[in-house]
Amino acid sequence: SCSSFTLESLLLTKKLYCSVLSLLHLNTLQFWHVTDLHLDPTYHITDDHTKVCASSKGANASNPGPFGDILCDSPYDLILSAFDFIKNSGQEASFMIWTGDSPPHVPVYELSTDKVISVIANMTTTIQSLFPNLRVFPALGNHDYWPQDQLPVITSKVYNAVADLWKPWLDEEAIRTLRKGGFYSQKVSPNLNLRIISLNTNLYYGPNIVTLNETDPANQFEWLENTLNTSQQNKEKVYIIAHVPVGYLPYLSSTPAMREFHNEKLIDIFRKYSSVIVGQFYGHTHRDSMMVLSDQKGSPINSLFVAPAVTPVKSVLQKQTNNPGVRLFQYDPHDYKLLDMLQYYLNLTDANLKGESDWKLEYVLTQTYDIEDLQPQTLYGLAKQFAIAGSEQFIKYYNYYFVSYDSSVICDGKCKAYQICAILGLDHSSYVDCLKQHYIKYRP
Ligand SMILES: *[C@@H]1O[C@H](CO)[C@@H](O)[C@H](O)[C@H]1NC(C)=O
Ligand SMILES: *[C@@H]1O[C@H](CO)[C@@H](O)[C@H](O)[C@H]1NC(C)=O
Ligand SMILES: *[C@@H]1O[C@H](CO)[C@@H](O)[C@H](O)[C@H]1NC(C)=O
Ligand SMILES: *[C@@H]1O[C@H](CO)[C@@H](O)[C@H](O)[C@H]1NC(C)=O
Ligand SMILES: *[C@@H]1O[C@H](CO)[C@@H](O)[C@H](O)[C@H]1NC(C)=O
Ligand SMILES: [Zn+2]
Ligand SMILES: [Zn+2]
Repeated sequence: SCSSFTLESLLLTKKLYCSVLSLLHLNTLQFWHVTDLHLDPTYHITDDHTKVCASSKGANASNPGPFGDILCDSPYDLILSAFDFIKNSGQEASFMIWTGDSPPHVPVYELSTDKVISVIANMTTTIQSLFPNLRVFPALGNHDYWPQDQLPVITSKVYNAVADLWKPWLDEEAIRTLRKGGFYSQKVSPNLNLRIISLNTNLYYGPNIVTLNETDPANQFEWLENTLNTSQQNKEKVYIIAHVPVGYLPYLSSTPAMREFHNEKLIDIFRKYSSVIVGQFYGHTHRDSMMVLSDQKGSPINSLFVAPAVTPVKSVLQKQTNNPGVRLFQYDPHDYKLLDMLQYYLNLTDANLKGESDWKLEYVLTQTYDIEDLQPQTLYGLAKQFAIAGSEQFIKYYNYYFVSYDSSVICDGKCKAYQICAILGLDHSSYVDCLKQHYIKYRP
């Protein structure tokens, strides 16, 4: 009849209108996340494969090509290809986050404070010249210091150097705390009620002996609580960015990425302010993984994302590594909730074979898993699906974990339990509970 026709056409008009809006990105904003660039300036093609890159530490590079090798950190051309891809992708982004680790994995004596600063300066200048109008929010990594991992609780040559290098992106207050302790917070832009908090979680990293016995290194916990409290009062929303993630390592048994004591403390703060925090973004593991923080009663309250590295490097002893990856997040401009994530990657083998870099979309998070959004309860439900024996969803997740480096690799039994519990158990007690559910004993 005529009336139902009108209703139908109205609905159709609304549907069309909505898809046009989303095409124009009017109800979606986007930002890039890049991490673990690990430039190896010594990388070059030569017949003696032990001499291709310092980062192979004397081992023969496995199959070196113009875009790198799995036993080497990134050649400059690989990093350029990633940023060129981002620049020419046609995607509009309101900002970029960059979660650290620019220098190569080489023995401590092959680097120095000046060398570390010059690599960070190179990466910063590269980004600034390719994206003169894009604001970038960096976080320091454990390799962004010399000697590596030993980031201090007071000002240092490196903190001062990055404060100077990152001035074009950050405001005065951010630069002040960056100089003092390697962390800062800043509103994304005057017209968005969204704040980035860039934490120096390297202060909580096990190998950092400077902070071994400190309950609150550089008073960052106190500063974080105050910053989150003020954000709450100002009705802001917050994205947490940092290098070393909270929670447990997905490839090991019962091992937090940072010191357990500091991890517990950080989780307490994140739980207390979970209504302010609408996303958390990390690097450091070089792999693609996610986590869901639950409150003490077990209800999911926060979504966390660990982005894979640009460097494909692995050690001789490791079987698997990651293809180079960069990612794009989509968020709602009204409440800053995360809507989707697009993971891009370079098939390194293929790029080296063809002599050209063809960065491609690896997957779209909501589409690949057939989920609505990236909200904590949605990802929690997904992780529960992963846990089912033989889950096809988990097989996908584990292939993406290595950025599609080797889809034949299998993870079941304990391997799978550690992966699942790293997604669902971020503090000691929930991690232990999760392992128990998978009939596995906690072994520190
Ligand atoms: C590197 O490869 C060459 C040629 O195959 C071999 O002679 C040499 O022993 C290898 N070096 C190492 C450190 O594996
Ligand atoms: C960065 O380092 C690479 C490799 O050493 C060099 O080719 C390039 O010119 C440097 N770029 C900048 C901006 O310093
Ligand atoms: C940390 O505490 C332990 C045990 O109390 C002590 O042996 C060690 O020397 C301390 N380390 C530092 C760096 O203060
Ligand atoms: C935030 O700070 C105010 C004033 O210091 C305090 O009253 C309030 O309890 C704090 N909020 C939280 C969640 O701790
Ligand atoms: C990557 O490229 C290699 C060589 O072309 C190919 O064998 C492999 O299937 C590709 N991997 C993916 C995930 O497309
Ligand atoms: Zn790294
Ligand atoms: Zn790292």
